[in-house]
Amino acid sequence: MKKKKRKHFNHLIEKHRGSGSAPVCPHFGECGGCLFQHIAYQDQLALKKEMVNDTLGAAASIDHVHPSLPYRYRSRMDMVTAFGKCGLRRAGSHRIVVDVTGCSIMQEKSDALFRSMRPLVLAVEGYDYLAHQGYLRYVVIREAMHTGQVMVNFVTSARENRLAAVIDHAAGEADSISLIHSGGLADLNYGEIYETVRGGYIEENFDGIRFRITPNSFFQSNSAVALAMYRKIREHARGRVLDLCSGVGSISLFIAGRAEQVTGVEMNSEAVEIAGVNRTINGIANAEFICSDAGSFLRSAGGSWDTIVLDPPRSGMQRRVMEEIDRLRAETLLYMSCNPSTFAIDIAALRNYAVESVDAFDMFPQTPHVELLSVLRRRSG
Ligand SMILES: C[S@@+](CC[C@H](N)C(=O)[O-])C[C@H]1O[C@@H](n2cnc3c(N)ncnc32)[C@H](O)[C@@H]1O
Repeated sequence: MKKKKRKHFNHLIEKHRGSGSAPVCPHFGECGGCLFQHIAYQDQLALKKEMVNDTLGAAASIDHVHPSLPYRYRSRMDMVTAFGKCGLRRAGSHRIVVDVTGCSIMQEKSDALFRSMRPLVLAVEGYDYLAHQGYLRYVVIREAMHTGQVMVNFVTSARENRLAAVIDHAAGEADSISLIHSGGLADLNYGEIYETVRGGYIEENFDGIRFRITPNSFFQSNSAVALAMYRKIREHARGRVLDLCSGVGSISLFIAGRAEQVTGVEMNSEAVEIAGVNRTINGIANAEFICSDAGSFLRSAGGSWDTIVLDPPRSGMQRRVMEEIDRLRAETLLYMSCNPSTFAIDIAALRNYAVESVDAFDMFPQTPHVELLSVLRRRSG
């Protein structure tokens, strides 16, 4: 974060801190996972409202942030195993791991499993990601909020299962256990699945639509908030829908019942494959998934769209893709974003759409992050 921005951010924190709140986690202040536990939840929402409005400037404004469960909401936690510790990185430092004994934003079942598994994990050789030596890099724990299914992935630097004791313990609680190889210098928490000990996937359920989540695939971090946002997207989607950055097809399949046809475009081939499986298990006939970069797809594919859904990563969408979207002049553009800064840059590239509304959702309580959903309409003329 740039110096001036950090100063302003700290000023906003002080302004909204109010009488404060006692952090529930013993690691607060050290662990980089939660930065806002010392601020009462209502004050966090007011703080985020001001942060969003500052970032959006004249482009749009919000009048409140939709709340979430303040704790126990997170569906995924990636615990680093390094330097004899198992936990999360220290705030502001990639080099230091905080030995986390449990996590209050994780969902309950996965946190209980993490706590009980932890001594066995610590008995396994960790991976020194500074010297690039060792074995176990990450323990990733995921939990589907609406089905209670739990997944554990062990990310190792070698294709060798040296985890008998911890797997034996996890097998009592987890529906899916996988071993993933990440052998390069990059600090990656995903890679090639070299052993599926159990299951191989878990399922989440949004209003009766089933989503299969595999070890390497993205799924929203807070299912209750994601469901509220998907419902709002469904309210506005109609006709022929183009879902850009469709991941495992979750938005496409959730809204398919309201659309004539949905085309999901996603560049990750594993996600596209799972989207196809998700379409089949839900018996949805009017959705298709195409593996492509969004920009290449828009330049080469014909067709016209009534609704475009866009849900890019934190880095936002490339300028040329925003210009292609502008050229398409769909009636409605629904932009879901986990980064207000890149959202503001992206929508500034649009000449043919006007912002009708922006809603902010607290997808990540206790952290500075917030998710936006904007409805944009084609300008007349
Ligand atoms: C925030 S996730 C959204 C996934 C999905 N919409 C959902 O709700 O689960 C962003 C997705 O965009 C994909 N992506 C990133 N850049 C892309 C691009 N240029 N073209 C197509 N997909 C892209 C990523 O692989 C990732 O699956």
